Amino acid sequence: MVLGLGAYLGVEAGMLPANADGKPSRLERWAARTSLRTTLEREAPKGPNPLPLDDANLIAGIKLYAANCAICHGASEGKPSNIALGVYQKPPQLVKDGVEDDPEGVTYWKVAHGIRFTAMPAFGKALEDRQLWQLTLFLKHMDGLPPAPQRVWKAVKSEATSSS
Ligand code: HEC
Repeated sequence: MVLGLGAYLGVEAGMLPANADGKPSRLERWAARTSLRTTLEREAPKGPNPLPLDDANLIAGIKLYAANCAICHGASEGKPSNIALGVYQKPPQLVKDGVEDDPEGVTYWKVAHGIRFTAMPAFGKALEDRQLWQLTLFLKHMDGLPPAPQRVWKAVKSEATSSS
């Protein structure tokens, strides 16, 4: 009760930062990362990607990425857009700082459910399950695409950046 009142007064007094251009505190980072990790251990699918690794699925994943993700996670040249620069937490520019090493079930879960306390949206309502796995397939193989998907990927343009 006292703790609750203290927290309430603290928030009322503006002690909880409300801006998006600061750096997250260690406590905030720890709480967010720990709850994400435990949720992933419990909920992320454990098996392999149910879709075959072929050009059609990779290209479908690239097109979905261009339409839904490049605005925050960047295109193949890895230049953050104006939106990416202003978002709290920073969205990783996936071409440089990708998720190729993560289990596909983990990436699938993040794309389907989003990441709380960050700008990472949940796409599970907007996209079909098959599309979520196509995105996952592309992210898993982004650094080693076969020639045809690689051409499609190179043609994806960055969104507005500070120099354009
Ligand atoms: C509005 C901005 C925004 C959009 C659009 C967005 N994301 Fe994210 N995404 C983020 C942010 C911010 C993070 C980092 C969250 C964190 O710090 O844990 C993130 C994290 C991720 C991660 C985890 C990265 C890692 O290193 O663990 C994956 C995977 C991901 N996004 C995939 C996608 C995909 C696929 C799409 C499109 C279908 C997408 N995101 C669209 C903002 C966005």
